[in-house]
Amino acid sequence: MRATTDLDGLGLDEGGHLLVQRALEPLPPGGRLTVTGSHPALRVHLAAWCREHGHRVTENTGAPVEIIKGTAGEQRWRGASRAGPAQGPPDERADPRWGLAARGALVEAGGPPIGAEWTEREHVWADIAPRLYAAAAAGGWDPATAVDWAAPVDVPPEIERAVVQIMTYLVENEQAALIIPARLLSQLHPHFREVMQLLAAQAADEARHVEVFTRRGLLTGGPLGTSGAGGRASLQTLLGEPDFTTAGFLLSVLGEGTFLDLLRFLHRHAPDPVTAGVSRLALRDEARHVAFGVSHTAHMVRADPSYLGVLRQSVERRHAALLDVAGLNAEVFDALVLLAAGSWEPAEIGRGWRAVRQLLQQMDEGRQRRLAYLGFPDDEAAELSALHTRNFM
Ligand SMILES: [Fe+2]
Ligand SMILES: [Fe+2]
Repeated sequence: MRATTDLDGLGLDEGGHLLVQRALEPLPPGGRLTVTGSHPALRVHLAAWCREHGHRVTENTGAPVEIIKGTAGEQRWRGASRAGPAQGPPDERADPRWGLAARGALVEAGGPPIGAEWTEREHVWADIAPRLYAAAAAGGWDPATAVDWAAPVDVPPEIERAVVQIMTYLVENEQAALIIPARLLSQLHPHFREVMQLLAAQAADEARHVEVFTRRGLLTGGPLGTSGAGGRASLQTLLGEPDFTTAGFLLSVLGEGTFLDLLRFLHRHAPDPVTAGVSRLALRDEARHVAFGVSHTAHMVRADPSYLGVLRQSVERRHAALLDVAGLNAEVFDALVLLAAGSWEPAEIGRGWRAVRQLLQQMDEGRQRRLAYLGFPDDEAAELSALHTRNFM
């Protein structure tokens, strides 16, 4: 088979190789391509380029130059395969040899494999993941403008201290909630693109929560409140959870699920518009985090109902690890009471106390509801909810 291409005055070092390549492409190995052109170094450059790409230039020294196509191009793509389907859901098993290739790309053999731990779709997936990612991308807000930082914060000093204490506590919880999806993400095969994107968006959400809670905590001049050892110990057990699903279950289903009620409470009892604003913004994001945690865990349980036992063990293990730990920082509990009371009047403190009791009950009911949705019988859901950390997250 023969073909011809004309480079006119274009040199091979000026992009001429694109024309040569294009003309060679339809030819089988052994096919001949005649290259015409007026560039003075055309023959010399073509000879070098052909050597590099496994083609040959014929002995004929006159013009034009004739190339015989080699087999290197075909060999390069021999054994190449597609990195799963470009459209629709990802493959059940992501091949580590696909490495960082785009989903659906033709993957040249021989590249470095990716050292991801999570390569099975069932272990990371939820059908809702693409929609949740789209919602996260569309729902991004700017911490600088989404909150009216200049709004008047006219709060009595002791109530303000309670707000600052709660913000201090929120920040440490948000930091744990940022690190966990980031850690899972680093071990996820990128073939599960939507889950990768969703975890990245989740970590970015938490980065914003860290920012706005810190900013509210410092709004009236600081200093920040206290950080209890028990709360930090509780969060530390989450950081050490090795499994994708149990880490997400403990963090998102139980912890962030409980936080939904906490953030609603803070929004309702906020003594100033900034506290109300930051609580509302975080609440909106957390609802998405909980939705993925619940959907993914339910997905796992549907595929293997005995997985409920693994989930149960993860709660029991964490409870055992935290047996000797105080749980919620007492200062945080008191701050919540004072926030709901709004003053030091005994009757108001009593009202604040009852509001926090009611909050704990709502948190418990919410956890039981989510556990029952996952498939736990009611009595077991109640039992596991009671074992959840007193730190809420
Ligand atoms: Fe958060
Ligand atoms: Fe979250």
